[in-house]
Amino acid sequence: MLLGKQGAGKGTQAARLGDHFGLAHLSTGDMFRGQAASGTAFGLEAKRYMDEGELVPDEITLGLVEECLAPGGPLDDGFVLDGFPRTLHQAMELDRVIGDHGLDLAINLEVPREIVLDRLAGRRVCENCHRVYHVNMPPTVNWTCDTCGGHVVQRDDDTEEAIDRRLELYEQETVPIIEYYRAQGMLAEVDGVGDGDDVFDRLVKAVNERFPDDTA
Ligand code: AP5
Ligand code: MG
Ligand code: ZN
Repeated sequence: MLLGKQGAGKGTQAARLGDHFGLAHLSTGDMFRGQAASGTAFGLEAKRYMDEGELVPDEITLGLVEECLAPGGPLDDGFVLDGFPRTLHQAMELDRVIGDHGLDLAINLEVPREIVLDRLAGRRVCENCHRVYHVNMPPTVNWTCDTCGGHVVQRDDDTEEAIDRRLELYEQETVPIIEYYRAQGMLAEVDGVGDGDDVFDRLVKAVNERFPDDTA
């Protein structure tokens, strides 16, 4: 599980960790955006909250996660969570859904506020596969995704107002779950500042330190 402020690099690094360790990348934000883009009632409902920087209500979010983690899917094969849980209640519900020993490691990706504001201001994402870019690291051709050819655009919630609200909710609602996992001895802290490849190496090291016997 990756924890960290908006713009810390959770989406960027969770995708790379998923490829590296052969795990599914489960991002509740990407799932909501995908549903909203398809125009489903569920997605449009979620979008109303997202565009304001508010949390999507638990009855929507928990239903989605429970569906994703139904037996026979990523729950059996392994997954990286990105953007879930983000309240203590969600963390406890996650324990219920996957059982006591289902979670291996919570990583807090630490990046100061000034840096995340800079990253969010220049962020662009693929509408189709959700790959994350930045105006300083654009796709090769004309805002067309290098991976899937989709349109690469600015997120609707990357406005100044919504970013402020998301960071405020992070402090109020999400910071307490860092302590929740620390108390269980499940927390690793990783510095998220610097070159993306260096951050990735630190994350892989944190995972390998937790599982010294694995060869991944
Ligand atoms: P979500 O999609 O999860 O967004 P978020 O929490 O606001 O986090 P971000 O995606 O903004 O940050 P990130 O850490 O993934 O950064 P990224 O890798 O993109 O959620 C959106 C909304 O959905 C929520 O506000 C809420 O409404 C709803 N929602 C989702 N989950 C929910 C839940 N569990 N409960 C209730 N509601 C929920 O990187 C940012 C930028 O930095 C990019 O441009 C990237 O290229 C760049 N970058 C990354 N790493 C580096 C680096 N090392 N150096 C320089 N630039 C970098
Ligand atoms: Mg993200
Ligand atoms: Zn794409």
